[in-house]
Order: sequence, then C-alpha cells, then structure tokens
Amino acid sequence: MMTVNMFLRFVVVLCVVVAARVSYAVRHEFEIVTHLNRLNKPSMKSIKSPDGDIIDCVHISQQAAFEHPSLKNHKIQMRPSYHPEGNNFESMKVSSQNHQTITQLWHSNGKCEKGTIPIRRTKKEDILRASSIKKYGKKSSLHTVAQPNSVDLDLINQSGHQHAIAYVEGEFYGAKATMNVWDPQIQQSNEFSLSQIWLLGGSFASDLNSIEAGWQVSPDLYGDNNTRFFTYWTSDAYQATGCYNLLCSGFVQINNEIALGASISPISKYHGSQYDISVLIWKDPEQGNWWMQFGKGNVLGYWPGSLFSYLSESASMIQWGGEVVNSASDGQHTTTQMGSGHFPEEGFGKSSYFRNVQIVDGSNSLRAPKDIDTFTEQPNCYDVQTGKNDGWGSYIYYGGPGRNANCP
Ligand SMILES: *[C@@H]1O[C@H](CO)[C@@H](O)[C@H](O)[C@H]1NC(C)=O
Ligand SMILES: *[C@@H]1O[C@H](CO)[C@@H](O)[C@H](O)[C@H]1NC(C)=O
Repeated sequence: MMTVNMFLRFVVVLCVVVAARVSYAVRHEFEIVTHLNRLNKPSMKSIKSPDGDIIDCVHISQQAAFEHPSLKNHKIQMRPSYHPEGNNFESMKVSSQNHQTITQLWHSNGKCEKGTIPIRRTKKEDILRASSIKKYGKKSSLHTVAQPNSVDLDLINQSGHQHAIAYVEGEFYGAKATMNVWDPQIQQSNEFSLSQIWLLGGSFASDLNSIEAGWQVSPDLYGDNNTRFFTYWTSDAYQATGCYNLLCSGFVQINNEIALGASISPISKYHGSQYDISVLIWKDPEQGNWWMQFGKGNVLGYWPGSLFSYLSESASMIQWGGEVVNSASDGQHTTTQMGSGHFPEEGFGKSSYFRNVQIVDGSNSLRAPKDIDTFTEQPNCYDVQTGKNDGWGSYIYYGGPGRNANCP
C-alpha cells in the first residue's frame, strides 16, 4: 500500500518531469521562432508561388550575408569586374527544343523590384523536418562529395551517398555547363537526388572547400518533390560552415529575378521536350569573389573570397554530375532515381546530360577541359559517360534508376 509520504514523493517527481517537458517544449519553440526570425528578413513585398512557397522581396542590404563575421564591413559588389569568355556554344547549332526558356514558378505571380532580392521564406514546417535546428539547411558529412582518388568503398557504403560524375583535376578559376532538368523520383523523404557542378579546393579532409550549384529534389529540405535551383558552399568539409541557398550568411545575392531554392519549370520529358539550364561560376581575378551566373545573363551574386581558404586561390577539382542518398532501409538499394532515372546509354531525350562542359583556365578563359575522368560507386545503379562533338563540345550523360535487376 502507498503511504502518504510515497504518494507525495510520486507527485513531486511527476511535477518535475512535466515541468521539464514543458520547459523543453517552450525552449524548442522559442529556438525555432528565433531561427525563423534570423532567416526571414523584413520584406518590401511577398509573392505567393503556385507551389505553396512564399517569396519575400528583401532589400539587398538586409540579406543574411552581411551577418557573416568576415563580411561585417563588406562593400557589396554590384557587378563582377571580369566575365570569362570562350567558345559560346549557346549560339551554336543545337536542336531548337533546347532553347525553350526555363523560369521559376513564382514568376507567374509577381516580381521583385530592383534593389531587392527574392528569398524563399522558411516556414516552421521546414525546420521541423530537419533532425535539428542546427542541421537545417546543411549537408550531413564529408561523404556528400565523391572522392575519386581516395575511394574508400566501406565508407561510401556506410554513408549511402552515391555519385555518377565526370571530373578534372588541376588549377581552375571557374566552371560552366548546361544541364537538362528532370524530376527524379525519391523513394523516401530523407533521401535526395541532385545534379550539379562542384568546384573543390583542398584535400578531402576536414578543410575541404566547396562551391556547388545545380538542381535538386529534396523532400526533407523543401517539403515536396519539386525540382529546385540551388547552391551550396562549405569551407570545412560540410562541418560548421556553409549551407544551401541563403540559409546561412555567406553568399551575396544581387539579382532580383532568381530565387535560390525556388522551383523551376518546365521539366524535361522522357522522349519529349528537353529543357536545360546553364550555370557559370568563376573567380573574379581582381576582387577574388566567386561569381555565379544562371542562364544567359542572370548574374546572381557571389561568394566572397574571404569565406574560403583554398578557394581563395583556385579550385583543384571540378566535378559535374549527380548525387543521391541511398538509405537502403529495407536492405535493398533505393529506387531513388538520379537525373532522368535512365542510364547514359539511352542518350539524348532520355538520359540526363551536361553539355558545353567547360572550365576557366589560368588565363581566365573558358575552354573545354582536358583529361576528363569519370567516377561512380556502383555503375549498375547509376552510371556516367563522357563524349565530345561539334554542337555540344564536351558533354556528359549520367544517371540511372537505382534499384534494378543488376542493382538489387
Ligand atoms: C557496397 O555495397 C554494394 C551493394 O550493396 C556491394 O556490392 C559492395 O560489395 C559493397 N562494397 C563494400 C566495400 O562493402
Ligand atoms: C514525393 O514522392 C513520393 C513518391 O515518389 C511520395 O511517396 C511522396 O508522398 C511525395 N512527397 C510529397 C511531399 O509530395
């Protein structure tokens, strides 16, 4: 039988437990609201996108970039002092269906005025989907980058990240490519599929520097299966620095038309129209900033050179291709697709591609890379092939379905 004494003790313990729970919930809620307030800047105007996103038009001087410790007294650059030139394949003969323009979905409902930048608003649900507030908007580990020369298959299998990429090594001051856009199926919300350019500096150790841009489908990050234009950067191998898009301070945006992390449309169809986007990233030889251009003339902004160690000089490796997460949750390979979900052998209209693959060399000229190599962990799941012709210059076909008879 319970004595009064025991009963009182029980009540006290119960109260302490409940109070701790409540205080945790309050603190957690407070942290989420604080984080949202940090990410979502006061806006001049907000635009509701058909996909449910809200795009805030934020005054250019109010963006997160200037909160970065190394950018406190940064003077914003409104244009690069230098723009690399080279073979301009865009104007060369490519079948007309490549020329259809891609836009971002939110454009159908409004524009951000000059002097403001469009920022995808972060919602509470976005943060709740992340494993922690701190991890929201960040990649998880070093294994998010393919390490062609130090292939540790054990680690690759453990981390579950799989790649199919083409790469070059040397000393580079930029990279460019035109990639067609797809909507790969994602098996599980904690997986993703992306296609991008990587500019890497340093070794594959704790100080790896990386600048990345392309398109991705990531249900955890965005809450849907839409294909979105995105960027990423880190200066310490995805540990404490860097993030996707504008989800931390670093990237300085100057453009009022393209929102990082916003859905793009239309998407290429298997055996149908192909839609592609061009991305150029280059280092300004005078200011040392790494600039990014989307499409023909949209200069989006730059990563200040001061964010980086190795990349404040040059990139030592460029990669083009795809990456997925294979969570292998049921002991089988995931069915998450890379690119179009079809293998390179299928070619144009079916497989995903990068065309006009170029690098910026030591004389700041765009040119086709020499000695392209390829890397993939499991070619039966996702594969990659390179080629060259007059219309497309250097090109890459990559991707695959994930699980299939040869990739159980
Ligand atoms: C990695 O996983 C694949 C498929 O699950 C398997 O074929 C391969 O042997 C594994 N590699 C290592 C080193 O464990
Ligand atoms: C994304 O697609 C998968 C199937 O590929 C589906 O199960 C899931 O519900 C979709 N998620 C959202 C948020 O629409």
